[in-house]
Formats: sequence, C-alpha cells, structure tokens
Amino acid sequence: MPRKLVAGNWKMHGSLADNATLLAGVVSGVQDLDCEVAVCVPFPYLSQVQQALSGTLIRLGAQNLSEHAKGAYTGEVSAAMLKDFACAYVIVGHSERRSLYGETDAQVAAKFVAAQGAGITPILCLGESLQERESGVTEAVVARQLDAVLAVAGIAAFAKAVIAYEPVWAIGTGLTATPEQAQAVHAFIRGRLAQHDSAMAANVVIQYGGSMKPSNAAELLSQPDIDGGLIGGAALVAEDFLAICRAV
Ligand code: 13P
Repeated sequence: MPRKLVAGNWKMHGSLADNATLLAGVVSGVQDLDCEVAVCVPFPYLSQVQQALSGTLIRLGAQNLSEHAKGAYTGEVSAAMLKDFACAYVIVGHSERRSLYGETDAQVAAKFVAAQGAGITPILCLGESLQERESGVTEAVVARQLDAVLAVAGIAAFAKAVIAYEPVWAIGTGLTATPEQAQAVHAFIRGRLAQHDSAMAANVVIQYGGSMKPSNAAELLSQPDIDGGLIGGAALVAEDFLAICRAV
C-alpha cells in the first residue's frame, strides 16, 4: 500500500507575517498523524519556511521549477536551487502552469526529470478541464499527460514520484469531484502504470486535488486509490489543513 501524503499548495499567497502565523498553527498540530505532510510555498519564502519547519515532521516543497539546469533563463529557478533549501517535493505540471503559462506535456516531463535529477520528488499533476470531462475524454487526457512523462522518464522513475489527480473544474471552484468520480480516475491512473509495472503502480502515491476541505476529505480519502490530497485554499487555514490531515 502507498503511504499517505497531504501537501498544501499555497499558490501565490502569503507574506512573511502570514506565513509565520500559518506555520506556527500547522506545526503545533501535526503530532500523531497517520500521514506525511508537506507545504509547497512560493520561491521567496523557501528560506523562511525551511527554517520554520526545521526539526518538525513537515516537508518543504516548491510549486514549479525550470527544466534547465542553469543558464540564461531570466526569472527561472533550477532544481539545484530548490535543493539548496532542502526541498523534498516540487509540483510539476499544475493545471495553472499548463493553462496560464502554456506548459506543454513535453516541458512537464522535462521538469519531472530535472527534479528527480536533483533528488527532489516531483508531484506530477494530471487532470481534465470541464469541457474535456463533458465530452467524455477524461481518461484520454489523463493518459496523454501521464504517457508523456512515462515516455521520457520511464516507469522506474515513479518509485520516487507522486501523482496528483486534479480535475481542473474542481480547482478553486468549490466543486469537488465525487468520491466515485475521483476514485474512477485514480484507479485508471494506477491501472495505466500497472501495465508497465504492477508492483510499482501499487505503491505510487496518487493524491486528489480540487476543493478538498475538512467537510469532504474523509469521504474522498476513504477511496481505495486516493492516497492523500493536494490542497489549495484549505491549506491557507491551519485548522482546515490539519483537519484534512487528520481525516487520512
Ligand atoms: P483548491 O484546493 O483551492 O481547489 O486547489 C487545488 C489545487 O490546485 C492544489 O494544487
């Protein structure tokens, strides 16, 4: 069975003062949880959060990275730079990166490889838009996004990767996939990995993301193929984030 992982994605939220308050709240409540916990924070706060989390069980993550190792890429951040701040995780291919910044499947795959090259576990986001769901191509979209990474990184790379299924229509909308809808796609993703290596597939953490909150977390997390959550809005409120962690 995969371990359980609840990760907060702060997106572009926070300030030095707000982060300190939020982290103090989260740190004070993470004892005796049955899951691993991480927070993926904006780049400028990596140092602050690294220090605040030192000596705790909470792992640090980033929300994006460059596919390039170094060079003339103004404004970009490399995997090695994230490693300097002891990032354990980095989100790759979040739907906001794909839709707002034009990240392609190939670029996402390159970022996945770059993260692993620095010893950072990528959290690979997959998910369909509302239009894609309504036209019945959810599995085809998720398969295309997953296969792009499998083709470049290979199945063995998934020993050190996390997948997050995030239906785009459920992100930040208050609309959540039903446990059955989410479970169906999670099982599809695991099944697709199992075509390459069934033992590997059985152990890959597949998180759900999209309006997960204390009121719906337990039901989602009780599904057999849902191994945790990637939490946006609810990760900005310590009590809500902890309530989701406790629901695991
Ligand atoms: P919300 O939980 O705010 O819907 O965001 C989900 C998400 O995109 C996490 O990466």
